[in-house]
Amino acid sequence: MSRILIEGGVQLSGTAQVHGAKNAALPILAATVLNEGVNIIHNCPPLKDVNITVEMLKYLGAHVEREGDSLIVDTRGRLGNHIPEKLMRQLRSSIVFMGAIVARNKKAKISAPGGCELGPRPIDLHIKALRELGVKIKESHGYIICNGEKMHGREIHLSFPSVGATENIMLAASLAEGKTIIQNVAKEPEIEDLAVFLNKMGAKIKGAGSSRIEIDGVEKLSAAEHSVMPDRIVATTYLCSAAITGGEVTLTKVIPEHLSACVACLRDSGCDITVGDDWIKLIAPKRLKAVSEIKTMPYPGFPTDAQSLFLAMLTVAEGTSIIKENIFESRFKPAEELVRMGADVMVDGRIAVVRGVSNLSGAVVSAADLRGGASLVVAALSADGLTEIENPHYIDRGYAELLEVLSKLGAKIKRVEY
Ligand code: EPZ
Repeated sequence: MSRILIEGGVQLSGTAQVHGAKNAALPILAATVLNEGVNIIHNCPPLKDVNITVEMLKYLGAHVEREGDSLIVDTRGRLGNHIPEKLMRQLRSSIVFMGAIVARNKKAKISAPGGCELGPRPIDLHIKALRELGVKIKESHGYIICNGEKMHGREIHLSFPSVGATENIMLAASLAEGKTIIQNVAKEPEIEDLAVFLNKMGAKIKGAGSSRIEIDGVEKLSAAEHSVMPDRIVATTYLCSAAITGGEVTLTKVIPEHLSACVACLRDSGCDITVGDDWIKLIAPKRLKAVSEIKTMPYPGFPTDAQSLFLAMLTVAEGTSIIKENIFESRFKPAEELVRMGADVMVDGRIAVVRGVSNLSGAVVSAADLRGGASLVVAALSADGLTEIENPHYIDRGYAELLEVLSKLGAKIKRVEY
């Protein structure tokens, strides 16, 4: 068991580098299953979720080695069809292995990933889309059993632009016979990164990043080398940390365009932001201002993954902010913990009303999910006195070297085991 201890009140300053995106690395690693060769994936941070994905690849029979920030994934030889419940339940996004395994082996048996800390997370769109591609799917005793002998391309319309379902279809359709057209797909940058990797492997995918993707299935894909895009939510975490502490921070290795919805809100809160090709600089005002309304939306709207970070930041902004969560129903869990720290937050269903207070005070609080946990770090950085964050294992899922980076920027932060 461990806790993160933060002595708040230090203005962050300096420069930090942002690591590769977890949510791009996971489907890219699953995509290596589609070829038989030695893939090299750079900028792949040593996060808990990446490590679990590596365990899944190894369970299937791939050889995976880490060299610094690169993973070498050897998918030659026979790979299995099956991922057991023990592994699937650890990582909800493991569902993308369904499309990858059925495309490679024509058969797949994976455990249903189940719910998670963000509330129910159905996979009906994944299942419906794969059925439309001709995959026969049986759900039995908690397992999803797929037969893709007769997989073929076709036109699919997603009723909601689900990130994971878009990825699953892209993986399966890359090796299906004929053309697949997917309408109303997710436009998240991680989808584009997956398409770039698949195209390097020899896939024929057009339109990723728009709401219509076209895929011409090919017979065979080969191994590829790729560098994962920077993590836009990790970047946002550091920007919110700098903002709440009244600091001045430059982030490198970012794609500023990916951050535009968050940057707009940071500017509304009074931050001065300058961007370059691959860097972004934030200078915080003396006191942040409330943001009248934030609504989470699929990309390029305001990301649900950044919602809790802004919730924490706005607890000390002058005025009242309203946040509406449209994607995941249980994403206001940190609100209760922030109230323990002196915040004035009222949650009603999918809406949070945040009345800014002049300062937070350190307390013992508990992380309940990845971004919610990170939001407690953001709050603690500005709070008076000591904050102790329990259950930091949630934070480990998506942040590599968080303590090192924040310490380098001046934060008084450490981890203790007990
Ligand atoms: C991805 O999850 C991300 N995870 C999430 O990041 C992110 O919050 C989410 O996209 C939205 O941007 C990864 O990329 C690994 P969805 P995903 O399918 O693919 C509903 C983080 O903190 N839905 O776009 O699971 C669903 O319930 C994580 O890094 C269905 O109803 O998200 C939700 O309301 C957490 N049926 C909405 O769609 C389905 O079959 C969006 O989900 C699929 C989804």
